[in-house]
Amino acid sequence: MSALEGKTLIVTAGPTIEPIDPVRFLSNHSTGKMGYAIAGALAARGARVVLVSGRTALDTPAGVERVDVLSAEEMYRAVMERFEASDGAVMCAAVADYTPVEVSPVKMKKSDDDLVIRLKRTKDIAAEAGRRKGDRMLMGFALETDHEQENALGKLRRKNLDFIVLNSLRDPGAGFAGDTNKITIIDRQGEITDCPLESKRAAAERIADRIEAWFAARGC
Ligand code: C5P
Repeated sequence: MSALEGKTLIVTAGPTIEPIDPVRFLSNHSTGKMGYAIAGALAARGARVVLVSGRTALDTPAGVERVDVLSAEEMYRAVMERFEASDGAVMCAAVADYTPVEVSPVKMKKSDDDLVIRLKRTKDIAAEAGRRKGDRMLMGFALETDHEQENALGKLRRKNLDFIVLNSLRDPGAGFAGDTNKITIIDRQGEITDCPLESKRAAAERIADRIEAWFAARGC
């Protein structure tokens, strides 16, 4: 029997959308493919998976409960409402770091002047989950362009994660949009596992293996 049987796991995936006015927003290139693949892999091993998803064009994986959100604030609330009752979370979403201070209720008119939009920081969902972690499993992702392992390990420690999965934008075939990824898994002990370039589905199975082993090692 899988150690994931009966576990409740939250997976965040996709981009967030930060509104500027009723027709415009700030966002990023995340497609949600990696998070959806992880949600599917965990559900196939018997976990109850709640996928908190930003806007994507993907079908919900079999056996997964999906909660749709748009903004970082909505994603924060959707995760925090469910975190206490969960056994852990995989934070795969590309959450906006900044959001407009003011959202115009009407479509903003153009003028000949430059436009300045003031942004404020969003809440860090993974870091807040880290503060409330208790004995739950927590995995985060890091997309880095330089000093990759050092930055990723710093994030693991700051956010109190059990694992951080590193994608380097330097690796061809890794990161956003494509169907392949080249990941490095770093755990709390600082142990580093470099994985080959492979399909996101294969990378998701590898990630599910590590999560399953984490629960198995705790005998829970
Ligand atoms: O600090 P950075 O954004 O690089 O950290 C990435 C990790 O933190 C990812 O797991 C991402 O899902 C999570 N994160 C989050 N909430 C934020 C920013 C990042 O959950 N506001």
